[in-house]
Amino acid sequence: MESTLVIIKPNGVKGGIIGEIISRFEKSRLSVSGLKAKSLTKQEAEGFYAEHKERGFFGELVGFMTSGPVILIALSGEKAVEKVRTINGATNPANASAGTIRHDFAPNTGENIVHSSDSAASAAREIAFWFEKSELVSYPAYSYLK
Ligand code: RTP
Ligand code: MG
Repeated sequence: MESTLVIIKPNGVKGGIIGEIISRFEKSRLSVSGLKAKSLTKQEAEGFYAEHKERGFFGELVGFMTSGPVILIALSGEKAVEKVRTINGATNPANASAGTIRHDFAPNTGENIVHSSDSAASAAREIAFWFEKSELVSYPAYSYLK
């Protein structure tokens, strides 16, 4: 069992595809263990993306992530990190495979609809960045389907 963090970026929220995105994860047998809507402050976005602070796109990234509310999601399941990155697709939507979220909805790299953790270690740090332990749950997912 593994966990990962997803952020539905402001254009995914404004675009009305929150349900569509979460549905794709659930259909891949990942379960929602934490979920909240939040308007990020500049300080929060800068802190979360600190690893990118020397990159040329940092200011643009922080500006975009604070341009409207986001949805923060902690997901759990087998191979959650890898599964979610496959479902999301390549960072640049022009390179994303057909059927991925970024292929289907993202207009460009800067506004690529979703974030997800790139390793189990990043996931632990990123989930702890946004969620208190008391805000996370676990449950026997999908047993009702069988
Ligand atoms: P993410 O962290 O958001 O899931 O995406 P990623 O691992 O595929 O990409 P990463 O290298 O971690 O970059 C983080 C986010 O920064 C924006 N970006 N813009 N304009 C650019 O050249 C550029 N490059 C990256 C993207 O929004 C990317 O998701
Ligand atoms: Mg990344």
